[in-house]
Amino acid sequence: MGTIKPIRKAILPVAGLGTRFLPATKAMPKEMLTIVDRPIIQHVVDEAKAAGIEHFIFVTGRNKTVIEDHFDKQVELETTLKQRGKFEQLKMLNDLLPEAGQTSYTRQQSPKGLGHAVWCARDLVGDEPFALLLPDVLVQAEKGCLAQMMEIYNETGGNVLAVEEVAPEETSSYGVVSLGETEGPSMTINGMVEKPDPGLAPSNLIIMGRYILQPEVFDILATQTQGAGNEIQITDAMQTLMESQDFHACKYEGRSFDCGSKVGFLAANVAFALEREDIGPSFKEAIKKLID
Ligand code: G1P
Repeated sequence: MGTIKPIRKAILPVAGLGTRFLPATKAMPKEMLTIVDRPIIQHVVDEAKAAGIEHFIFVTGRNKTVIEDHFDKQVELETTLKQRGKFEQLKMLNDLLPEAGQTSYTRQQSPKGLGHAVWCARDLVGDEPFALLLPDVLVQAEKGCLAQMMEIYNETGGNVLAVEEVAPEETSSYGVVSLGETEGPSMTINGMVEKPDPGLAPSNLIIMGRYILQPEVFDILATQTQGAGNEIQITDAMQTLMESQDFHACKYEGRSFDCGSKVGFLAANVAFALEREDIGPSFKEAIKKLID
């Protein structure tokens, strides 16, 4: 195995329409919906930052400029906060701001699938391995999910996917993997399929929404081959890449939330609020009252 190149860049696909959250997402991107007091996309960027990511590549679409604004300075607001002596809030905003030159934006012009969205970022990534984080999925964990994957990657190199178990009847909504032998800290993936028909899933281990991938995946995506749902699927491209490269599974420690569904989004809000030092205890009381 050659040298293991560091993962410096992350792709965040944020072009989806968010139709499941209408009317909330009529004029606002779904990635800006808040989990407690932070937009979903901020939570995901924080997870990537904690794993050592230095450059954030957003694959956006029309009506998503608010995301770009969120990761920029807001001079008028900052001036007002300063005038009012609200230095704590000011510091918090500054701490969250990516450094100059650390963000890039490109547009997926039409919804051709996740694989196509990733391919749109090929020139911004260049010839180096990268992380891919799907913002619909939030992970609550002591150590961030991507940071856990990095530990495996730093041992194995190659490609790493976060996987988790779901009930057998849920596998048809996801990419599903099958595992080979266990090797050191990780398990080798020896098969994968996108949204298998019920009963045909190779296991109940799903691809959860966090990936570390080698740049050769772009060459495969370039063929623009359509798969499940007539979309260009990242899982199909990975399946082809598996013929020449290793894929490792990371059974991460933590709890994931599908914030692309209403129930998952609301559950994430409850879970993240409960673990907050400032509002956790009083929120718990409020919830108890509602349920009793
Ligand atoms: C995508 C991927 C799928 C993965 C899922 C995780 O599907 O194609 O392999 O399991 O994200 O959330 P989507 O949710 O976009 O249909």
